[in-house]
Amino acid sequence: MPAIRLDGKLLAQTIRTEIAARLTERVAEGKHPPGLAAILVGDNPASQVYVRNKRKACEEVGIRSWLFPLAANVPQRQLLDLIAELNANPEVHGILVQLPLPSHLDEKAVLDAVDPTIDVDCFHPENVGLLSAGFPRFYPCTPHGCVQLLRRNGIDTAGKEVVIVGRSNIVGKPLAMMLMQKRTAMNAMGGDATVTVAHSNTADLAAVCRRADILIAAVGVPGLITADMVRPGAVVLDVGMNTVNGKLVGDVAPGVAEIASALTPVPGGVGPMTIAMLLENTVRAAELLDG
Ligand code: GUN
Repeated sequence: MPAIRLDGKLLAQTIRTEIAARLTERVAEGKHPPGLAAILVGDNPASQVYVRNKRKACEEVGIRSWLFPLAANVPQRQLLDLIAELNANPEVHGILVQLPLPSHLDEKAVLDAVDPTIDVDCFHPENVGLLSAGFPRFYPCTPHGCVQLLRRNGIDTAGKEVVIVGRSNIVGKPLAMMLMQKRTAMNAMGGDATVTVAHSNTADLAAVCRRADILIAAVGVPGLITADMVRPGAVVLDVGMNTVNGKLVGDVAPGVAEIASALTPVPGGVGPMTIAMLLENTVRAAELLDG
């Protein structure tokens, strides 16, 4: 039986509707609407599309959004000055610096410059530390999107074997952190799972992947995960966003749909959930800052 399709597009729409209702209530209480400042350096076409989609989603739910497009050769000082100005603006509840940045910029210095209280990507070391300690201020957007996709489809992670392929700071590492942690009042997204993180140096990747009740592919290699690497009945999340011949494809090969019990499509799986969680974090920042 082919895998159930875990529809992130539909779920993200549900979550956006919930957020819009929360914001209508906030505005009715006389509070200012949250605002998100997006910084886009250069003209990477994929980044342009992502930022456009993020801003569109903001406007749809009642979050103000501003775009700061900067030239690909912008001096680091100018970018840091812009971040400092946005940090000081009370109308800004979230700053998003779209990655990747051109190679002349020091990505760590740029991300560290964002005020952690409005770091809605959860990239600042203070927020990474809070997440790691089990007292998150924000959950990072793509990992949170994955957890919500599982939860809201009734897929429990407690006691399960989870294998994450990929150890990036944006997805693999923080997602492992979330799924391995104890679920507590302070850490509602703790997954209580047994987590393995596989990567480019893992010996016998296929055997490691076959251990998984829940297999999550987040490497950026089109079709890396093939049917023989999946335990029959496993749940598979495909976080890959690869462009092949102008088409968006994931890290999971098509044949996996015949083996898995549930699978996220690409596009329309994790991608829209990332955006929904960015909105969630922007509202959370506003709530933490403005009450
Ligand atoms: N580039 C790829 N994923 C992301 C993300 O989640 N946030 C930002 N800012 N840039 C990205």
